[in-house]
Amino acid sequence: MEDKDFKKKLAGEKAAEFVKDGMVVGLGSGSTMYWTIKKIGEQVSEGIAIQGIPSSVQTANWAKEFGIPLTDFSKVKQVDLAIDGADEIDQNFDLIKGGGGSLVREKIIDSAAGQLIIAADDSKLVKALGAFPLPVEVVPFGYEIIKEKIARLGSEPVLRSQNGKAFVTDNGNYILDCLFSEITDPKKLHNLLKSMVGVVETGLFINMTDMVIIGKSTGTEILHK
Ligand code: A5P
Repeated sequence: MEDKDFKKKLAGEKAAEFVKDGMVVGLGSGSTMYWTIKKIGEQVSEGIAIQGIPSSVQTANWAKEFGIPLTDFSKVKQVDLAIDGADEIDQNFDLIKGGGGSLVREKIIDSAAGQLIIAADDSKLVKALGAFPLPVEVVPFGYEIIKEKIARLGSEPVLRSQNGKAFVTDNGNYILDCLFSEITDPKKLHNLLKSMVGVVETGLFINMTDMVIIGKSTGTEILHK
């Protein structure tokens, strides 16, 4: 296993330790979450009763594979704990997410959660957000117009593609990956983007995270706000 994958595994498994009997747990997306979901599956097989709400089709598939009972917002109105990954984490615990394309469902779940834990390898910690292109989910119709508008904010948005075609999210939308280099005011940028007609959501997760678990070569480090 590569060093980075080992760190993701450490962080992902550590985060699963915060899952307790009876909880409704938001299950994030991405390769770090694979390890969290696998570990939670082991806890379920040992007897804890939890219900998971998956943030992507991939996560739902992993949860089923590892025997985690799933629920949805037609049955539960509150999430006790959400665990998720991130693409960048700044010193205020603000995040860029959506590298895997699941930002909308992740944000719905993470913002409904009583507590949000982010698990990531140590490469995700940054001084300022922005070196990772910001994913912005947009309605396919007229996305070209939104692309132009975002470009005027000082970015060069790129339509995400997969196998030579536009990448389509679990919600049937497109993603524009917008490199801003350094995002000095994440809240302002988020609000600007959200005010554009056709923008569904941005990958800026501001003031949502309660705890960060970082995987390092030497073990895990838990960061509190
Ligand atoms: C999914 O859309 C993302 O928000 C992921 O949480 C993020 O990309 C982290 O992924 P990894 O755990 O694979 O690095």
